[in-house]
Amino acid sequence: MSSPAVPATCVYRRSGIHDAALRSGYEACRRATRATGEIEYAVSLLLPPPLRTATWALYGAVRAVDDLADAAGPTGEADPGRAGWLEAWISAFDTDLREGRGSDPVRQALIHTMLTWNLPPGFLHTLFEELRQDVHGRQFATWEEWRRYNSLINTPLVLRAGSLLLRAAGLSAEPEAIAVSVPDAAVAWHTAVEALYLTDALVDLSDDLGRGHVALPQEALDEAGVCRTDLLARRATPEFEDLVRHLADRARTWLDHASLPPVLHPAVGIALGAYTDLYRLRLKAAADAPAALLHRRPALPRGARLRLLLPARAKAALAWGLFPFPIQPCPPELAPAETPEGPDEPEETRSQAARRPPALPPPPHPSGARPPRLPAEAMPRHVAIVMDGNGRWATARGLPRPDGHRQGAEALVDVVHGALEIGLKHLTLYAFSTENWKRPADELQALMYEIPQVVLRLVDEELDVRVRWAGTRSRLPADVIGTLLQAERATHDRTGLTLTMCVNYGGRAEITAAAARLAQEAVAGRADPGSVSEHAFARYLYVPELPDVDLLVRTGGDQRTSNFLPWQATYAEMLFLETPWPAVDRRTLWDAMEQYARRTRRYGSVPRIPAQTASLRGQEAPTR
Ligand code: IPE
Ligand code: IPE
Ligand code: MG
Repeated sequence: MSSPAVPATCVYRRSGIHDAALRSGYEACRRATRATGEIEYAVSLLLPPPLRTATWALYGAVRAVDDLADAAGPTGEADPGRAGWLEAWISAFDTDLREGRGSDPVRQALIHTMLTWNLPPGFLHTLFEELRQDVHGRQFATWEEWRRYNSLINTPLVLRAGSLLLRAAGLSAEPEAIAVSVPDAAVAWHTAVEALYLTDALVDLSDDLGRGHVALPQEALDEAGVCRTDLLARRATPEFEDLVRHLADRARTWLDHASLPPVLHPAVGIALGAYTDLYRLRLKAAADAPAALLHRRPALPRGARLRLLLPARAKAALAWGLFPFPIQPCPPELAPAETPEGPDEPEETRSQAARRPPALPPPPHPSGARPPRLPAEAMPRHVAIVMDGNGRWATARGLPRPDGHRQGAEALVDVVHGALEIGLKHLTLYAFSTENWKRPADELQALMYEIPQVVLRLVDEELDVRVRWAGTRSRLPADVIGTLLQAERATHDRTGLTLTMCVNYGGRAEITAAAARLAQEAVAGRADPGSVSEHAFARYLYVPELPDVDLLVRTGGDQRTSNFLPWQATYAEMLFLETPWPAVDRRTLWDAMEQYARRTRRYGSVPRIPAQTASLRGQEAPTR
């Protein structure tokens, strides 16, 4: 861990941020954090470089954009100039995020952090809502309204920031999952967040008044006998001073009752402890001089601040030194390499491919079974499998469900070997659906471990397998994304079997994302809405080159597709097997392909060609 005094350039280097333009965006965010978030900046210095830069980007970007919006138009009640400027910035951000670029340094830093830490896009909109509220002003009639606003806007923001820290502590669980499985922690976090925002409402009073706003509930003013017009005129009254002391007390009580969430990494605990202690200091500064709040933000008393921060810095440095930062952030691929082969391929990639050893053949099945010989015209080109039944397989054996996923990984490897042996060109496997996030945290953890592990194992086997990933980044841990992208890169020149792993995949999400991208292209004038064909549309799917599915197999006994490949499988032959996935091996795949070979496909026409091969005909009646 670097000492807190290391220069920013060194912090960027240690965070893997090398690009000069990107650094300038992070620098703007850092300056904005230092200028407007005294506590956040101080606490960021207790974190290791990758988390420090993420804190600057998240906190600083909001403040930097807010400053820019201030400069863009005169301030005032719902100023249309500021509001319009802000909406334009947000919409440019959405476009940049979709296209994986940053057309402005601050946007680029924020996008880089979002992608590096795999923060879901919904989180951004929480951030943006903060900015919008700054423009329009926050008015609350009652405490209940104030609380509702906090739970919708502020708490998710803090929870997400907390999840960054939890990742640093070695946990990659989602904050929502933690909130569900540890309800006490969720309540404690809510209370803590309310304490922070009540404190901020007090210390930001002077800035808010400058914009004609008061961010405290009217109910609180009425109860204390404080008149809004006095406040707007910045007139200090005894009632106002009492109100400040009373609210400061209330916030302190909330803070004292909100015990810190359990953390695995001692340094994370030190940072969180320093954060709340600095807020206590801030509350004291506000309560000590209430009238001054009408004119300026209270500064933290320097001596007390240092007495708190110096030991925290020493302890944090020691803790990071003893237990180094365990998580490697996954910097985004802002411009992913497209078609690997071809004249545009970079020199470095070509030479890497040339240096690579030739692919190895798959190991044979232990039983010595060999693949059936299918006539070329009866071979499916693309088999897609819903690998279902892991949980039931384990439960039936008195084992925990994660054991089913572990055994399922063994089945997956054997089926890939069998696909290579029989000469299949495309195998697509449904490993994790966008709906699977509804599962318990321990099962999610097991899946998020098994999936990257099995992918790495296949890559390490040096088979003639090209790995592709179909799915969305949203909610997926950064290390899982990193492994999938790395597997794609490492195998992009393999030509035998294309193995598409559907991880965090949802068919409707895929089609919706494609439609959104196409609409963007049309708005930008790069696509003609009048000539959108099915073929043109398919270019926007996750893996545009994925051919239509010929055979869709589902194991585990259920007969549904569960949001799997709705676009690609419209004419697939369906095969539902009772066997649970962990009990499957390559022979199941070969059987399924033989069954496929006996079917007659008509694509809406009359069956001119009867069954597909004479040799196989008669063994099973055509199904359609
Ligand atoms: C498939 O097995 C694996 C995933 C969906 C991730 P399941 O875990 O769905 O197993 P069952 O259907 O509960 O038996
Ligand atoms: C489908 O299985 C998804 C995967 C195999 C990855 P599920 O077990 O999630 O499907 P449902 O819930 O039974 O439809
Ligand atoms: Mg299932």
